[in-house]
Amino acid sequence: MSAPDPSLLDPSALEAARDEALAAFAALPSLDELPAARTAHLGDRSPIALARRALGTLPTADRADAGKRVNVVLQAVQAAFDARRVELEADRDARVLVEEAVDVTVLPGRLPVGARHPLTTLQERIADVFVAMGWEVAEGPEVEHEWFNFDALNFGGDHPAREMQDTLFVAPEGSGLVLRTHTSPVQVRSMLTRELPIYVVCPGRTFRADALDATHSPVFSQVEGLCVAEGITMAHLRGTLDHFAAAMFGEGMRTRLRPSYFPFTEPSAELDLQCFECRGVSAEPGGEPCRVCSSEGWIEWGGCGMVNPAVLRACGVDPERYSGFAFGMGIERTLMFRHGVTDIRDFYEGDQRFTLPFGMEA
Ligand code: FA5
Repeated sequence: MSAPDPSLLDPSALEAARDEALAAFAALPSLDELPAARTAHLGDRSPIALARRALGTLPTADRADAGKRVNVVLQAVQAAFDARRVELEADRDARVLVEEAVDVTVLPGRLPVGARHPLTTLQERIADVFVAMGWEVAEGPEVEHEWFNFDALNFGGDHPAREMQDTLFVAPEGSGLVLRTHTSPVQVRSMLTRELPIYVVCPGRTFRADALDATHSPVFSQVEGLCVAEGITMAHLRGTLDHFAAAMFGEGMRTRLRPSYFPFTEPSAELDLQCFECRGVSAEPGGEPCRVCSSEGWIEWGGCGMVNPAVLRACGVDPERYSGFAFGMGIERTLMFRHGVTDIRDFYEGDQRFTLPFGMEA
């Protein structure tokens, strides 16, 4: 460090240091430059600090006066610095108030809220209806082995459902894999893996080589129901379907079983619903014609029947002791009946104008 310089204690030198400091503080544009200015004019190596250090070089008699002069200058510089800091802080506060002002009257920019697809929410609602009766929800793969999709369900080797025009086969040829054509293979999987008695419901996606039109899609959803226990009869099937229909379409909705054929149920039936549009009136003498049911008074909802003993046997269940019923409905069709949707394609187009009115169910 250089030797103390007594000339710094000259009144003129001290005044020059003070004036320079005051001018520098006055010229500070913002609080950011404040620390550097403090170091330059009030720090250890500032002219005033060096002048104070030079006091020791003066004869003792001169020190008191010189010390007072230094102190006066120091206080003036410190006061100027403090005043400038207060000014700059006030400037900053005023600027922040303007720059960060929030206009509470501006309307909020809202991000559109997504909604779950009505097919998803209906599948969950259907599951809830059965879970409330003590049933369980079962699942199976969408890429399914032919054995589960056909063989175990008693489809003969030459059944037309196995043809390319009905079923989507998974490459390579002979892989034995198909995109499941219905949710019924979950019946087989459930019987093979669960303890008896079995009460399961299985909503899920299914695939067929169907052309897309107003009532058909190559990808659609079904819900399968399966009950296997001792002493199960058609009456249990009927009662369960009536409860399901009431949960979907309201109390008083009538159902009808019409004889039909499925390889995996015996006897088999188509389940018809009373037409939601005309409530069956169009089929009565003098009734107005109805476009929805072609004036038949009924519309088909799905298939059902008593589980074929051959299927029970294929799944290791003793048909002498146990019996069961099964049913399967299209979920799109259920949604169409519930909400009067006339074109199935509306479900798949992703147009929010269609899906939003179904609500924002979580
Ligand atoms: C079956 O798929 C049987 N597995 C149902 C069943 C289960 C019967 C258990 C007995 C016991 P079906 O092929 O009829 O049956 O189809 C059932 C329902 O799926 C139809 O009523 C219809 O609602 C729906 N569905 C069928 N094909 C399509 C399609 N291409 N697009 C939309 N929905 C369809």
